[in-house]
Amino acid sequence: MTGSRKLYVKSFGCQMNVYDSQRMADTLAPEGYVETGSPEDADLIILNTCHIREKAAEKVYSELGRMRVLKEAGKAEGRDVRIAVAGCVAQAEGAEIVRRAPAVDLVVGSQNYHRLPELLARAARDGKAVDTEFPLDDKFDRLAAPSAAATRARGVAAFVTVQEGCDKFCTFCVVPYTRGAEISRPVTKIVDEVTRLVDAGVREVTLIGQNVNAYHGEGPDGRTWSLARLLERLAAAGIGRLRYTTSHPGDMGDDLIAAHRDLPALMPQLHLPIQSGSDRILAAMNRRHSRADYLALVERLFAARPDLALTSDFIVGFPGETEADFAATMSLVEEIGFSGAFSFKYSPRPGTPGAEMTDQIDEAVKSERLQRLQRAIDQSQADFNWRCVGRTVSVLFERLGRHSGQIVGRSPYLQPVQIEAPTSLIGEIAPVTITDVATNSLFGALTQQPVFAGSGA
Ligand code: 5AD
Ligand code: SF4
Repeated sequence: MTGSRKLYVKSFGCQMNVYDSQRMADTLAPEGYVETGSPEDADLIILNTCHIREKAAEKVYSELGRMRVLKEAGKAEGRDVRIAVAGCVAQAEGAEIVRRAPAVDLVVGSQNYHRLPELLARAARDGKAVDTEFPLDDKFDRLAAPSAAATRARGVAAFVTVQEGCDKFCTFCVVPYTRGAEISRPVTKIVDEVTRLVDAGVREVTLIGQNVNAYHGEGPDGRTWSLARLLERLAAAGIGRLRYTTSHPGDMGDDLIAAHRDLPALMPQLHLPIQSGSDRILAAMNRRHSRADYLALVERLFAARPDLALTSDFIVGFPGETEADFAATMSLVEEIGFSGAFSFKYSPRPGTPGAEMTDQIDEAVKSERLQRLQRAIDQSQADFNWRCVGRTVSVLFERLGRHSGQIVGRSPYLQPVQIEAPTSLIGEIAPVTITDVATNSLFGALTQQPVFAGSGA
């Protein structure tokens, strides 16, 4: 091990990249790398990239332009700054990145992060290293676990990848190509990881996967366990709050719906993307379900957990989308009353069937529809937030607020909640009565003195 070197990791895109970035930092820690928040003094810069939409990939190249300047400034000071590109752009474009951005020393695909130390050595020796293979071994077996100190520094809510890849092949989506086929981690490994997090003070764990509810991992009994069974096992391990994301409506099994009824630790919030409210577009997207299927599923979920809040993703301007198709999406937003949603203009991704479709929609039409949809979603979210006023919800306090005397936490519905309370409450879950709503957060007051016990909400 050499002396301490500084590592700057920037994550783009989804929560899985945030998790992967942490595991890369953990894997480089034994090599003497210490994380820094500023790229200017880093010896190694890793951009963990996203390829889901064109804009996301473009951002990476413009960021690489900025990083090249830092590399040159470092060189002028006699410092050798290395730049690595990881994540889905790395996986999709491989050596092309080094051709387009020669300042890049290392390209590492999403399945090869455990090889980072070896790849860095190779880049130092040969000038460049590119590794975007899909190895047969499990990267999670090789990635280092965080130290208790690193876990504590990352806060009281953590992500854990339980499933990776996707077999659904929605016609707009690159994930099945960049992250590969579905793989589920074995139950015991996940339980060990969550137990370590709980021991280090983590109170909330979000299980993540591109298609997380398709989870089918090997259980300790040698059988295949579903996500519902995994959640039940984790709830028994003493974690205060559990969440999972992102789910496909086609994989909401009966046992998972029942888990929303039976597990108090499972938060009453579910991200269940539908993408479009039009059956014609859902079929063209190869979503494998109809609008009526989705509505029926939502009804069953609400029957299991009446205080459930739903969020979704939407794509506007998918090839062939007519004004009538778009109107169906707008009416669905109205009908469900989502507590929030992400919406995107369709972005043709090379190699996906959608990109080959002939009836692509005009950019101006996409922009106009996106605006209308976002207004409807904002309204739906504001309505949901206002319905929380007067209710008492459990809040997990995460950090100091902007004003002195204030602390900020999250409600079961992921809304930021600000209250006046002592900082000693950070890391605790306490009931709060909601009194007011601002654009991005709720305000409230402690309902009673919290119980300083391991129990959840
Ligand atoms: N264009 C626009 N949005 C997309 N998404 C995925 N692929 C595309 C694309 N090609 C959106 C979907 C998905 C979210 C993660 O990103 O809504 O649920
Ligand atoms: Fe992409 Fe999700 Fe469809 Fe899989 S289910 S192809 S990750 S949008």
